[in-house]
Amino acid sequence: MNNFNFYSPTFFVFGKERENETGKLVKRFGGTKVLIHYGSGSVVKSGLLDRVKKSLSDAGIWFAELGGVVPNPRSGLVYKGIEISKNENIDFILAVGGGSVIDSAKAIALGTLYDGDFWDFYCGKRIEKALPVGTILTLTAAGSEGSMGTVITHENGMLKRAANHDVLRPAFSILNPELTCPLPPYQTACGAVDMMAHVMERYFTNTQNVEITDRLCEGILLSIINEAPKVMSNPDDYDARANLMWAGMVAHNDTCGVGRESDWASHQMEHELSGLYDVAHGAGLAVMFPAWMKYVLQQDVMRFAQFAVRVWGCEMDFQNPEKTALQGIERYEQFVSSLGMPIRFAQLGAKAEDIPTLVKTAGLGENTMGSFVKLTEEDIRKIYELAV
Ligand code: NZQ
Ligand code: ZN
Repeated sequence: MNNFNFYSPTFFVFGKERENETGKLVKRFGGTKVLIHYGSGSVVKSGLLDRVKKSLSDAGIWFAELGGVVPNPRSGLVYKGIEISKNENIDFILAVGGGSVIDSAKAIALGTLYDGDFWDFYCGKRIEKALPVGTILTLTAAGSEGSMGTVITHENGMLKRAANHDVLRPAFSILNPELTCPLPPYQTACGAVDMMAHVMERYFTNTQNVEITDRLCEGILLSIINEAPKVMSNPDDYDARANLMWAGMVAHNDTCGVGRESDWASHQMEHELSGLYDVAHGAGLAVMFPAWMKYVLQQDVMRFAQFAVRVWGCEMDFQNPEKTALQGIERYEQFVSSLGMPIRFAQLGAKAEDIPTLVKTAGLGENTMGSFVKLTEEDIRKIYELAV
């Protein structure tokens, strides 16, 4: 196991009706002037936004509002949020929504305490500080409610890029599984695929002797495989929603990734897809992950065979472990297909003729992508081709 630091200071508040504690929590974490940030209307329609505003008002907290975050959140609204926050002396950003809303809130939190262009941080500038962010999660997927990451798409060139730092971990996150019940099945399925991908990016590693995190990864994957079909057939299954909600958090706050190298090439390749076609992140991952697995399999056939046996219940073929490994990948594809997810370019609406563009916008040049196998531009071209 490698040396590591792990700092995960987020205060999690889990369960039914816990959003009514928002005002109290903002106070506890030092907020006095709040910017409430939300998406394209689901939280207005559900009445959640009104409940949150009431809770803030009851606690005597002043707030401004900025809605309109879209999936694959854009830079334009972030600039607007930063302007409001600076003009109004906002000291706390409250995200009410899914990963896109939370990521946009984190970007505003970064930009408010910075005199330059917030995009600098998404181009590699070192992050030092950000306003505190609180979240009320309505979609189990991205894990941004506990993660140090934020992903924004810049409208100039539609470049989708990430920034990461511990200061971006939310001060608090309210997780009420009931809020996820109205989700359309497609979004629920995208969420399950994204959570699984967060675990698998960590699972496929060259680091040896990481039994504890291997087993945590396998446990999270098995739970998602068990619970996701339940919510697909019964969206109001509270316990299944609750299990998935916590799985999404532990899948990405790095509990299961510490002490080991993780990969992230599939995520980076997916970000090019959702940058170009504006597809849902989880759907793009459902297409890219199996292609990546098939391409890098030879790096460690036994690790893939372990994945097949422990996660998918395949029988180990000691004479031919590659056969077992391939069965595991096939079972993964069958599972995500059973959730209604695409597994090939055409099902996603992506086109083979755009592969040169996808490779170019990834901007690798002479650099490489990923760590399990360090992929060159030529490698990622071949992986995109495998996904066609
Ligand atoms: O905008 P509204 O009206 O709220 O509708 C949203 C949106 O259309 C809807 N929705 C959310 N909660 C709902 C609901 N509809 C009905 N009922 C509810 N309770 O769902 C749609 C998708 O929402 P979005 O926030 O875009 O989805 P998700 O949570 O999957 O976030 C995806 C974004 O997160 C990034 C992705 O790249 C993508 O941009 N990621 C962020 C990460 C991080 N910060 O650590 C890591 C991830 O790997 C990922 O890259
Ligand atoms: Zn993801």
